Amino acid sequence: MSRSLATATAIPGNRPCCAVLPAGLDPARLPRHVAVIMDGNGRWASQRKLPRVMGHREGVEALKRTLRLCSDWGIGALTAYAFSTENWSRPGEEVSFLMTLFERVLARELQALEQEQVRIRFLGDLEQLPEGLQQLIADATHRTAANTGIHFNVCTNYGGRRELVRAAQRLAEQAASGDLDPASIDERLFEAQLFTAGESDPDLLIRTSGEQRISNFLLWQLAYAELHITDVLWPDFNEAALTAALLDYQRRQRRFGGVEPHASR
Ligand code: IPE
Ligand code: IPE
Ligand code: MG
Repeated sequence: MSRSLATATAIPGNRPCCAVLPAGLDPARLPRHVAVIMDGNGRWASQRKLPRVMGHREGVEALKRTLRLCSDWGIGALTAYAFSTENWSRPGEEVSFLMTLFERVLARELQALEQEQVRIRFLGDLEQLPEGLQQLIADATHRTAANTGIHFNVCTNYGGRRELVRAAQRLAEQAASGDLDPASIDERLFEAQLFTAGESDPDLLIRTSGEQRISNFLLWQLAYAELHITDVLWPDFNEAALTAALLDYQRRQRRFGGVEPHASR
């Protein structure tokens, strides 16, 4: 990353790293997987009388900060909502700016991601993205596939409903061709058809900018995530805001439908 991730110590795997963990956070009870709806870029820019797209540019810096912190603190996976299936309805110039931004940032940051052992994946219907971006995504995915550090999932042209329909279609095709007995379909088999196959469900969902909705994000995977909604606008999201989210998470009792409170983990 440009103020490079390469300046930080490489963290292999999901091992807890507490040297730089802020006071008050329990290193043994960090979420394994954090998901984030990065919202409020446009409002951040409007407040400064800047064009909306300047908020997106600044939002990239917030994402780099967040990835670096999660990696340094030993969080196993970060899944970020970058572009939804509904975001195509925005003005054409904003959509084009975002696609170009994704390309530029990916091209610029790939080497640092590689060196820092980040395993990057892009979740969503990637075939609808510009050709150049698709190639960069394929290259980045391939080059970081064997990395042992944080799993960094970027949801791009992602929609939770579309993901569920796609999974149903794939299972139906297997059943129609006789490769799958419909009676054998269970949650495990269904999950294996999602973009997130192989990833644990998010333990914590952070949404910035104060909106209290899911906006078609990870509809299946968030079934038991703890929700943290902050008024901070995404470009302002920083170490203090992430620490507040993690402290909030560590105060929760997760029950998963039972009666015994589980300490958050
Ligand atoms: C989130 O910020 C970024 C994307 C959806 C790409 P917004 O662009 O939605 O910012 P607001 O919500 O209009 O402030
Ligand atoms: C959700 O934000 C999508 C992303 C952050 C990529 P939106 O700004 O698109 O969501 P709504 O329209 O407020 O629900
Ligand atoms: Mg928004």
